[in-house]
Amino acid sequence: MGDNGSSRETLGSRLGFILLTAGCAIGLGNIWRFPFVTGQNGGALFVLIYLVFLFMLGFPVMVMELSLGRASRRNLYGAYKTLPKGSSFKWHWPGAVFFTGSAFLMIFYTTVTGWMIAYAVNYLNGSVAALGNEKEIIGYFNGFLASPGRNVGYMLLTVLIGSVTCYLGLQKGVERITKLMMAGLFLLLLGLCIRSCTLPGASAGLSFYLKPSLEPLETVGLFNIIVAALGQAFFTLSLGVGSIAIFGSYIDRDHSLAKESLVIIALDTIVAILAGVIIFPACFSYGVDAGSGPGLVFISLPNVFNHMPGGRWWGVLFFLFLSSAALTTVIAVFENLIAFMIDEWRLSRRKAVLLNGVGIGVLSLPCALGYNLLKWIEPLGKGSTILDLEDYIVSDNLLPLGSLYIVLFIAAGWGWKNFIAEANSGHGVKFPGWVRVYVCWIIPLLIFGLFAIGFYRRWLQ
Ligand code: ALA
Repeated sequence: MGDNGSSRETLGSRLGFILLTAGCAIGLGNIWRFPFVTGQNGGALFVLIYLVFLFMLGFPVMVMELSLGRASRRNLYGAYKTLPKGSSFKWHWPGAVFFTGSAFLMIFYTTVTGWMIAYAVNYLNGSVAALGNEKEIIGYFNGFLASPGRNVGYMLLTVLIGSVTCYLGLQKGVERITKLMMAGLFLLLLGLCIRSCTLPGASAGLSFYLKPSLEPLETVGLFNIIVAALGQAFFTLSLGVGSIAIFGSYIDRDHSLAKESLVIIALDTIVAILAGVIIFPACFSYGVDAGSGPGLVFISLPNVFNHMPGGRWWGVLFFLFLSSAALTTVIAVFENLIAFMIDEWRLSRRKAVLLNGVGIGVLSLPCALGYNLLKWIEPLGKGSTILDLEDYIVSDNLLPLGSLYIVLFIAAGWGWKNFIAEANSGHGVKFPGWVRVYVCWIIPLLIFGLFAIGFYRRWLQ
């Protein structure tokens, strides 16, 4: 693997690039976070607003982030540093703040990935499959969260797997695993959709999820729904913090970036939508509260599996594929951080992997301990956890503001013409030049406006 711009590795195939970038996008955001945030925000209306944001904001920002990576052949921080020619403004200084978003994302993502691995293991040894009713299922999940040893142990295992894969290199490590995992995940999700939609009472779950009603305007509030949809759109595509740009830096110029982005967003959206089609009918059928928060997938789905013939093996497969999807995101984001250390600090890959692994492992401890030893810390109000705070910092702040910064950089630092030339090199759908006013003015105003109102309402009102 090339360590710097000139000798940089390019990915083995176009499919490899699409899968890697989709592997970075598809993860806990689709199957863990999307359903629980949808549940908390009243269902279908949230889903509709989320889809609008994906297309109106996620798509252009993804094309821009990939362009920065491909044009600079560097990580996002390196792009901010090297692309502006003749500009006295140090774009990479503020850019560094958003770049830390990748690390922030990982310091809670590793803990939740650990939960997925733990559930795969515990389905395999039969302990989750043996749980009979909802009370036992909830009790088991809470018991798991209460154990510092298990939370920290599985979190460290996640960091270790991510580090070893990055050490082995992109093509050997990630491309192969991702191909297998994505195919398996799609098939499994399709199978589970059929199962879930044929449960008694499934139609109420599907209506909640897919038929917008005005009720959440009363119960949740329009603005809260909009802010949650915005955060989810950026979270699911991992935009704004360089994790997508890094894959741009590894590809050639044969295909236009609008085309690649559309494929990646479509794959990501299909997985999220399928996850909801599985989870909401199950919630309504087994009387699980759709708004029960981060534990939703661990509470709703064991109900489904444990009532199916061969349920133990469905559970193993589901949590195994979900762990793999989460791990490909971990690996992709680790790769971004490691490439930064190699490019900017001139570290060897071995040292960068080590430094990243130790750093993320240590910084992930508060989240892993946040449901047990550090449970008394309730940073966002009663009942909230360290995970909630870290998720808030990333999803409501660093990802949207990092995306805003990318747009500003293109509008005022690197230049629209350079961006369009880079984005449109290669075959396939071109990014339309005439949307310049929308991209350079309306998107920043929209993101900043929503961020500012959200910030005011949370902290100052
Ligand atoms: N985009 C990543 C996910 O959805 C963070 O899991």
